[in-house]
Amino acid sequence: MSATLSYEDAVDLLDADHKLAQKLFLDYQALCDDGAPSKDRQKLALKICQDLTVHTQIEEEIFYPRVRAGIQDDPLMEEALQEHAEAKATIARIQGMAPSEAGYDEAVMQLSQAIMDHVMEEREQIFLKARYSTVDLRGMVPELYARKKELQGGKPAPTPAGKKKVTS
Ligand SMILES: [Fe+2]
Repeated sequence: MSATLSYEDAVDLLDADHKLAQKLFLDYQALCDDGAPSKDRQKLALKICQDLTVHTQIEEEIFYPRVRAGIQDDPLMEEALQEHAEAKATIARIQGMAPSEAGYDEAVMQLSQAIMDHVMEEREQIFLKARYSTVDLRGMVPELYARKKELQGGKPAPTPAGKKKVTS
């Protein structure tokens, strides 16, 4: 069975990312509570950052533009993009820090809180409105899935058709 078939629609796929992020943040908290070595905490923090970077990118490239057109609520979509921008700034801060640095765990927890707040808003507003709209959420699954796998594999995005490589 194709992996994409296990998702009911785009919301289901994106919310699976949210659930995984929530679990990983709890795992991070457990590492802190256990006094785990900083390299272990950093390994998990960087995985969380990488996962969320891919998640926000597929939302911004594929899901948000179509939902924006379908639900006609620009302020809501702008707010979501602003929240993504804030999360990305925190992700960049974490990626640039040494795990032994003061404030490292706090930065991860700040990201956790920001993501949880954003997830609640997506679930209660954007996802709800998207499912009540005519946006083809089922049809979006293979595209979201393929782009997610591509970003996770670190493969370069295909060059837009017709764009010539400049050699001189
Ligand atoms: Fe999301």
